[in-house]
Amino acid sequence: MADATVSVPLDVYRYQPAVDHEPRYQRYTLDLAPHTPVLTALLKVRAELDPTLALRYSCRSAICGSCAMQINAKSRLACETPVGPEVASHGRIVVEPMRNQGVVRDLVVDQTPFWRQYARIEPHLKLDPAQPMPADRPNPMTPEEVERFHDTPRCIACAACFSACPAVEADPAFPGPMALAKLYRFVVDPRDHGRQDRLVRIQTEGLWLCLRCHLCTDSCPKNVRPSERIRDLKEMAIRVQGPTERGSRHAVGFKENIRTGGTLHELKLVRQTFGLAGTAGQVGQGLRIWRKKPEIVKRPRPIEGREELESIYAALDEEDGAR
Ligand code: SF4
Ligand code: SF4
Ligand code: FES
Repeated sequence: MADATVSVPLDVYRYQPAVDHEPRYQRYTLDLAPHTPVLTALLKVRAELDPTLALRYSCRSAICGSCAMQINAKSRLACETPVGPEVASHGRIVVEPMRNQGVVRDLVVDQTPFWRQYARIEPHLKLDPAQPMPADRPNPMTPEEVERFHDTPRCIACAACFSACPAVEADPAFPGPMALAKLYRFVVDPRDHGRQDRLVRIQTEGLWLCLRCHLCTDSCPKNVRPSERIRDLKEMAIRVQGPTERGSRHAVGFKENIRTGGTLHELKLVRQTFGLAGTAGQVGQGLRIWRKKPEIVKRPRPIEGREELESIYAALDEEDGAR
């Protein structure tokens, strides 16, 4: 028996920058089986109601990554998002182009910023010239070495994470979650000769701009978990170079603050992050905060049971040492 259909109101973003003054939303209503993917709904709109709608897709099987778009304000693959649950929870389906990339037309974006960041991390093996890849036999890795890649090889370069990332929105210089997850993949590849250089460079090329919000991980259709790989990169970068950059100094200072008192000494953390000279440049901002929150200048009282922290930190140090 065929599935019962539901009425699906689609509010689709329409915009041709060369022609339109501003974007608009066009309502199309279709009767569809609940499991119908949003992509199929859009193709039906284009085939039966409006041939001018522009969108990008290819495989229709969640493999090529080309149909990523904003569906009810979340970055998703349109070919694997069924209409039924969207209508059930939102009453309609708002379809918009991916964010953080300019609109070419309707749902098609210019992916140049995404691919430019990808190219910047040099996503290819850098071999030691003294030890070239053997031409006559495989260059195998152990299962344990492959395991260190975590989930990064599953990435289909759909850019859903790039679209969801507030750090990309705030600073176009931020490489973005996918590029950093790919960078991680090469950093842990035992055949790669560029590990040290990659980790040193990325410290000043945006690694610490990540806000740790995990929206990239939430939006990734392949469970690559870029935010966790960015965390790993930060740890490795500190191990290789020490806390040489503002972001890494902040992270290390934060950890030490909690270790010694169980609570944050905010003034001390500012000094640890910016250094003495840099702290002077923060005086204006500091005064504004002090007026609202005068207690920040006081050394906080250590929390009760602080000794228990030591065992937590000891376990963390041990885990660190084992990596
Ligand atoms: S965790 Fe970092 S990379 Fe991921 S979305 Fe947030 S800011 Fe972007
Ligand atoms: S990390 Fe996930 S969301 Fe980002 S490009 Fe790869 S598959 Fe897409
Ligand atoms: S069309 Fe290929 S991932 Fe959706």
